[in-house]
Amino acid sequence: PPRVPTGLSPSVAQVALSSGVRTRRELGPGLYQHGVYDAGGSYCQRGDVCCHGRDDGCTVPYHDTLCYCDLFCNRTVSDCCPDFWEYCLGIPAPFPKASGCARAGLNYPTGATYRENCNLCTCGPGGQWQCEDHACLMDGELIDAINRGNYGWRAANYSHFWGMTLENGIRHRLGTFRPSPTVMNMNEIHMSMDSNDVLPRHFDAAAKWPGMIHEPLDQGNCAGSWAFSTAAVASDRISIHSMGHMTPALSPQNLLSCDTRNQRGCSGGRLDGAWWYLRRRGVVTDECYPFTSQQSQPAAPPCMMHSRSTGRGKRQATARCPNPQTHSNEIYQSTPAYRLSSSEKEIMKELLENGPVQAILEVHEDFFMYKSGIYRHTPVAEGKGPKHQRHGTHSVKITGWGEEQLPDGQTQKYWTAANSWGTAWGEGGHFRIARGVNECEVETFVVGVWGRVSMEDMPHK
Ligand SMILES: *[C@@H]1O[C@H](CO)[C@@H](O)[C@H](O)[C@H]1NC(C)=O
Ligand SMILES: *[C@@H]1O[C@H](CO)[C@@H](O)[C@H](O)[C@H]1NC(C)=O
Repeated sequence: PPRVPTGLSPSVAQVALSSGVRTRRELGPGLYQHGVYDAGGSYCQRGDVCCHGRDDGCTVPYHDTLCYCDLFCNRTVSDCCPDFWEYCLGIPAPFPKASGCARAGLNYPTGATYRENCNLCTCGPGGQWQCEDHACLMDGELIDAINRGNYGWRAANYSHFWGMTLENGIRHRLGTFRPSPTVMNMNEIHMSMDSNDVLPRHFDAAAKWPGMIHEPLDQGNCAGSWAFSTAAVASDRISIHSMGHMTPALSPQNLLSCDTRNQRGCSGGRLDGAWWYLRRRGVVTDECYPFTSQQSQPAAPPCMMHSRSTGRGKRQATARCPNPQTHSNEIYQSTPAYRLSSSEKEIMKELLENGPVQAILEVHEDFFMYKSGIYRHTPVAEGKGPKHQRHGTHSVKITGWGEEQLPDGQTQKYWTAANSWGTAWGEGGHFRIARGVNECEVETFVVGVWGRVSMEDMPHK
């Protein structure tokens, strides 16, 4: 009986029906006579079928039609599935295998490519996919290992990081040069701590200074955390020290484009240089000078405004805002930044009395996948070789602290900090990290500053 397999194109189906006698199998052009375009995906094997004699139901989907795995197909050699000979008969196919590579049942020509996360795979001349072997910024295996491992924090797959190599994550998402030995040896300011100083168990700067603590920023693929963390800390400090009379969100772009002495914009920079600029030149708000840099433009856009002295230590901008919607181009400055000791208690006291502080942070591969909880660097990448264990220096804004009781009764102390990877990352753009153990060097280099606020900045009543 004539058969009209589903999936057959209508014209062929009609011919088969109207002829009444001739079947599609006799009519068919043959899958192999006009050049096989399938390098040998698994069909009979995938469907686990090999049928004796003629069996019109013995088909599996083949591109947009069907192919057969019955012995009748071998007689006409017209519509056998490509793996019929090898899988059903155990002999080589009677036609040369097309060059190309198979993937998910389809064939791709030599030179074709696809991406597997951060690695590019290319169809080689031998019919084999050849894939790059980079460590990826997001790694499903590591995410699973962290979440299974009871490390006290959860990992997640961030779609905006997916497809990046770890190397590029470190190159484009951090951007703080380690302080030089001279800067590291800067005298530390010691907070006077007396024995009856009581520090609360929990502290959140945003609760103490409502409306004055700015939301986490997003540096995109700009390795400019030096400018982002400096602008973030200075914005909060000026708001606090003016008692909320001024709450500017300061412009990282102003620093990236204009603080160019020994700085490298979106290729990294130094914190001491950023603070020098904020003290001596000052910056405008983010609204006035919005963020436009991305790593796709390696050279920072030219500086759109400088500042000049107006006497009495004040400065004014030399140009209008680069954003024509904003008129106020007021310049904000700070006093000299000061380095705190690495003592946990002193850092806490400074935070409590004066507001958020800046800290460097050594970022390891697992930190990019942080989603929630109290972060500690884990050993999950250790078995994967050195390529998977890169790290780089970053800087962040510490905004508070707290502690959590573990099921075993132990107390886990942590800092709360704002990162600059947007609010979709971590706990609303923030993260918590173990406190008092210099985790990832977060207590190594901690900086505070005063806003330069004078009485005339306060509104007169
Ligand atoms: C199937 O075809 C191959 C190659 O043409 C041939 O050697 C083999 O004998 C055939 N087998 C049957 C069962 O017809
Ligand atoms: C991660 O997210 C990307 C993009 O959303 C997705 O394509 C990928 O399959 C995910 N990977 C894992 C391991 O969940």
